[in-house]
Amino acid sequence: MTTKDILKKTDIFASLDEDDLSLIEERFIEKKYKSGDYICNEGETGDQMYVIVSGEVEVLKKGEKDVEIEIAVLKAGEVAGVMSIFEQDVRSASLKAKGPVGLLILDRVTFSRLLSDNPPISQMFLRHLSKKLRAENFVVAKLMSGDVDNRMKVAVFDTKPYTRVSFLENNNNEFALRFFEPRLTLDTVSLVTGFGVVCVFVNDTVDERVIKQLRERGVGLIALRCAGYNNVDLEAAYKNGISVTRVPAYSPHAVAEHASTLLLSLNRKVHKAYNRVREGNFSLSGLVGFDLYGKTAGIVGVGRIGKCLAHILSGFGMNVLGYDRTPDKELTEKIGIRYVDMDELFSQSDVISLHAPLLPATRHMINAESIGKMKSGVILINTGRGALIDTVALTEGLKSGKIGAAGLDVYEEEEEVFFEDLSDRVITDDVLARLLSFSNVIVTSHQAFLTREALSGIARITLDNIIEYRQGKQLKELTNTVLPPSVVQQGKKI
Ligand code: NAI
Repeated sequence: MTTKDILKKTDIFASLDEDDLSLIEERFIEKKYKSGDYICNEGETGDQMYVIVSGEVEVLKKGEKDVEIEIAVLKAGEVAGVMSIFEQDVRSASLKAKGPVGLLILDRVTFSRLLSDNPPISQMFLRHLSKKLRAENFVVAKLMSGDVDNRMKVAVFDTKPYTRVSFLENNNNEFALRFFEPRLTLDTVSLVTGFGVVCVFVNDTVDERVIKQLRERGVGLIALRCAGYNNVDLEAAYKNGISVTRVPAYSPHAVAEHASTLLLSLNRKVHKAYNRVREGNFSLSGLVGFDLYGKTAGIVGVGRIGKCLAHILSGFGMNVLGYDRTPDKELTEKIGIRYVDMDELFSQSDVISLHAPLLPATRHMINAESIGKMKSGVILINTGRGALIDTVALTEGLKSGKIGAAGLDVYEEEEEVFFEDLSDRVITDDVLARLLSFSNVIVTSHQAFLTREALSGIARITLDNIIEYRQGKQLKELTNTVLPPSVVQQGKKI
């Protein structure tokens, strides 16, 4: 790892651009220490700062009878002695190598010269220090307000009554949970002041601008209470040192069962029959469905949920086709699922159900071209993510009859409407309004996960993720971490 890479990992130098980093890296000298070596001593005057490159450094402070007590352990990417590069300072603690240690060292005179020659670097430091000061002010304000609740504070956004019940039932008083009804957005981000953790759901906005604000307000963890993470700018979170966790699996049965509910309702026209009989119309005309037995179902994305659905549909006696980057031989042995390519799945299936994550590669995977390859009258189910489908192309497919019916639990523009009671307003989204006008379309408002078991599982796993973070684990160390693709691909060490 280059000096630049190490400096990028530090809190203090991370916001410097490449040119400034090049200037500053030249000023550091490298030094190695053996286990037990003292790097500096408490009480001495110092004018050097240290960046830990490798190994661990103990921070020791003298207690009663001058016995040294370990008050912290610094690891790679952490810094010590920042004050000393601004003015000669009496060391408030000693630093001691816990094993072999590699350091980068910058001294005050070199640093002052660098600042006077490069005003933008001075400005960066002022910005950094004022942000730190603001974060410290929150702590002081908290202490002065007499807030004696020492539990970690978690701001839970976009909450509904059922969210609160499941979280409170599973919290066991571990965390100070504060439930906010609004979603997290740039407008509501100021609410997180004083909270170390934010807990968000599928439609909260966690883009770069919001993430920067989270960082400035001292948030260290974004705990998603869902499986998908397409609404989080993972690169920005990583760059700002904020960990992201999710709930990878919580009753996949709940979602798979909802997908089959949509399929059964559409095929046997239960939604129509329900309305008819309530109005005294007991006619069966127009309610003809087909036997699922012996028909072919195509599952796109045969992960946890896709597998559950494969079991359910195979139970109906359907031939199950699957498309996935990593076929599961065991599933093939168990229920005879046949993994095929996308084109074969589209052309052979009477029912297609989407369970792939939303990624650049899967966005609008159902479009005019792929619909063109499907069987006429196919039933399309989507409980994955709305943007897996190009909704305009779907509408055309429904109009032409190519798509026989569509069951949608998700919709690409759902954040504008789903989860809210808008019954006293007109729907201004024309694409959604058109979809709702089809009698062979059932739209549910992202409710596939909504079972008691799933809600409890979501709350439990989210809280467990926060417990791990409270234990000091970060980024890669967290069991249910979500890292940006660049980090995962490069296998970059944190
Ligand atoms: P999972 O990660 O277990 O399975 C996803 C599968 O998709 C994996 O097997 C993966 O290999 C496959 N995949 C990845 N890229 C693909 C591609 N380009 N083409 C085809 N397959 C691809 O995830 P799980 O738990 O099954 O959830 C699937 C999705 O369902 C989530 O990403 C989420 O968006 C959605 N979901 C929706 C819920 C709802 O309430 N409507 C609730 C929970 C999840």
